[in-house]
Amino acid sequence: MSEFVLATANPHKTEEIRAVLEPLGFTLLDRPSDVPDVDETGETLEANAVLKAKALVDATGTPAIADDTGLFVDALDGRPGVHSARYAGDGATYEQNVTKLLSALDGVEAPARTARFRTVIAIAYPDAMDVCVEGVLEGTIALARAGDQGFGYDPVFVPAASGGRTLAELSADEKNALSHRSLALRALAKKLAESEVSSPDVHL
Ligand code: IMP
Repeated sequence: MSEFVLATANPHKTEEIRAVLEPLGFTLLDRPSDVPDVDETGETLEANAVLKAKALVDATGTPAIADDTGLFVDALDGRPGVHSARYAGDGATYEQNVTKLLSALDGVEAPARTARFRTVIAIAYPDAMDVCVEGVLEGTIALARAGDQGFGYDPVFVPAASGGRTLAELSADEKNALSHRSLALRALAKKLAESEVSSPDVHL
């Protein structure tokens, strides 16, 4: 069983998910347009990922993959965290969220601007246990935006292993080689390959 429907309709995320999972033998279907988005009411990334995956498998009958990501900034006691999408308010744009983040860190010196992206991915099956995995990317928040690739907080997130470049200054392939989402997707593929519910044609 290597066919899954994707909960996210975010084109940046679906592209990143496809780039990692399709070469490993997964068939990924877009969320049907008549299945609405789920409110992310959970208090943790895990809760939200499971919520989204379960809602989708219930609506479609096809095993569903959902991800939830947060940016956890040490100097802000882990904020924006699980509320990263709506940090600057409901319906906030990426631009507004980044502006709020840079203002919140105003006066915080470079060594104290440590942060991490965490992605949790859940798979929900019609009649089997859910699977949850995590990917973490350590880094720092830049003093100002740089780069125009990617999305969300990419222009201000500098991965520890990127030679000082923000995620938005990396190519899609470079981001996929190290990102939190890609790490979680690889962990997912590995777990599926090891588990009873995996497809025999998933090769790592
Ligand atoms: P979501 O709930 O998984 O959609 O993620 C919450 C928010 O985190 C998004 O609205 C983005 O602002 C941000 N985000 C998620 N993934 C990434 C990423 O790979 N790079 C930068 N920002 C991201």
